[in-house]
Amino acid sequence: MLVTAIMLITNLHALVALVPLVASLPSMPSFMNRLKYLSSHDDQCPYPVHYKITSLQVWTPKNGNTHPMVIDFQYADEETKIATSCHYNGTQPNIAPTGLRSAQYACEDPSVRFIWDTEESSLSMIELACPHTPESGMEALDQITPRLSCVDTSKSTPFGEGSQCFSLDFAILGNFTALDPIEPPGNN
Ligand SMILES: *[C@@H]1O[C@H](CO)[C@@H](O)[C@H](O)[C@H]1NC(C)=O
Ligand SMILES: *[C@@H]1O[C@H](CO)[C@@H](O)[C@H](O)[C@H]1NC(C)=O
Repeated sequence: MLVTAIMLITNLHALVALVPLVASLPSMPSFMNRLKYLSSHDDQCPYPVHYKITSLQVWTPKNGNTHPMVIDFQYADEETKIATSCHYNGTQPNIAPTGLRSAQYACEDPSVRFIWDTEESSLSMIELACPHTPESGMEALDQITPRLSCVDTSKSTPFGEGSQCFSLDFAILGNFTALDPIEPPGNN
């Protein structure tokens, strides 16, 4: 039993090296188990598994209003000890890798990134796994469609005509569903 445990631990680094290969396979039924395994065996650097989003607000322009959309929320991952604010108002650069259609924005902690899909009203979260360690090079991903309550905003409001939406859930508890190799940033 003890010998097995030691073998598992010494094999962890070999396992981490295999992850990019495994992650590119189309179906991964054991994804969560594998992620939990990696997380629970490497206390120095847990891989992102769960996250929490609070105070989500999204404003989108309407009727030819050219003001960029405005997004605000708080992001927390207890296991990786990240708590950061995420904000977009048109001044933040798109940091999506070259060739990706969706714009990606960094939170205040740049190891956390997000994509807002206006058509689908969906939020994609990306958390870099083990940045600044030898295990870096992977990112955890998830996509959620938050339940929103929206009100119209008029021309006299700060952003002008649009729709101001709030998350109906005080906290959204998310679970990452993919772990992929990080693509190099592009010049979007
Ligand atoms: C946009 O957000 C930045 C912070 O990221 C802030 O400094 C700036 O004042 C905001 N601009 C507008 C027009 O709200
Ligand atoms: C995430 O997983 C937990 C159990 O670990 C579950 O309670 C929760 O509903 C899941 N969240 C989502 C958004 O699927």
